[in-house]
Amino acid sequence: MMSTLRRVLYAFFIAALLTPAMAQEGALPAGPGAELVYAKCQQCHPLRYVTESAGLPDFLWADTISLMVQLGMQVTAEEEELLYSYLTTYLGMNPPPEPAENDAVAAVSNVDPVQAYATNCSACHGADGAGQAGGFPPIVGHASQLAQADRGYLVNLVLYGVTGPITVAGNDYNGMMPGWSHLSDDQIAAILNHVVADLDPSADLPGGLTPYTPEEIAGARDAGLDANAVYESRPSLP
Ligand code: HEC
Ligand code: HEC
Repeated sequence: MMSTLRRVLYAFFIAALLTPAMAQEGALPAGPGAELVYAKCQQCHPLRYVTESAGLPDFLWADTISLMVQLGMQVTAEEEELLYSYLTTYLGMNPPPEPAENDAVAAVSNVDPVQAYATNCSACHGADGAGQAGGFPPIVGHASQLAQADRGYLVNLVLYGVTGPITVAGNDYNGMMPGWSHLSDDQIAAILNHVVADLDPSADLPGGLTPYTPEEIAGARDAGLDANAVYESRPSLP
């Protein structure tokens, strides 16, 4: 655990260096390791905890990472290194200037759906989409049912997250899935098509579903929903 001195320093740096731009929910500066931060650092608390800590000196990011490991964060040694290098570079004391928006958009065309799922969804739902007992529902065999009941629901789910009691394949869940609106329209469409095809890249979409398109994702971005509103709109399944 952190020493008292470090806790005091910590509180000081967080209060002093919180900047309005960084406090925005759901936005990390693009850079190697950003995807891993999205995947690992929202499992127990909002991403805000991380973005609002922007500006910490390196030794406090090192402390933070080991504290999160003590609190139960599961990472390999390699992942821990990547987290450290991302956080100290992009949320450290001397972050590089943000690239022009077009660069980020150009960087994500030609999405590999398998990779996009692995990076953004598998930490909670498992590499095979089977979920994890007690915490994260399976999505194989389930997402396609949701899509057939209301295809727009899955778009909103990925953009805005979902929270509320649900039952999937006979098991109860009542967790919080964060939104993934930082992903591009192309990435979200690719992930949804992959998920609805039960993570089988060679499979056709079931039940006469047509593929999700980037335009469809773009069209849902103005809805301004949150995880509770998405829950309220959840279709009932047979
Ligand atoms: C296994 C759950 C878990 C994961 C995963 C996790 N955290 Fe945390 N985090 C916590 C808990 C619990 C607290 C509240 C601790 C406290 O009040 O001292 C916390 C608090 C924080 C704080 C505020 C520190 C403070 O003193 O209150 C920061 C910053 C933070 N986490 C960053 C991260 C980062 C960065 C990651 C990803 C590398 C991460 N967390 C992943 C559980 C987690
Ligand atoms: C940080 C953990 C986490 C990540 C990462 C995550 N999810 Fe979830 N997901 C959850 C939780 C928790 C629930 C259940 C929420 C509840 O109980 O209300 C859920 C529920 C779901 C459901 C079922 C919703 C329903 O109404 O039955 C689908 C489908 C889903 N997630 C897809 C995805 C996709 C696609 C991704 C990647 C873009 C993803 N999830 C990433 C935690 C996560």
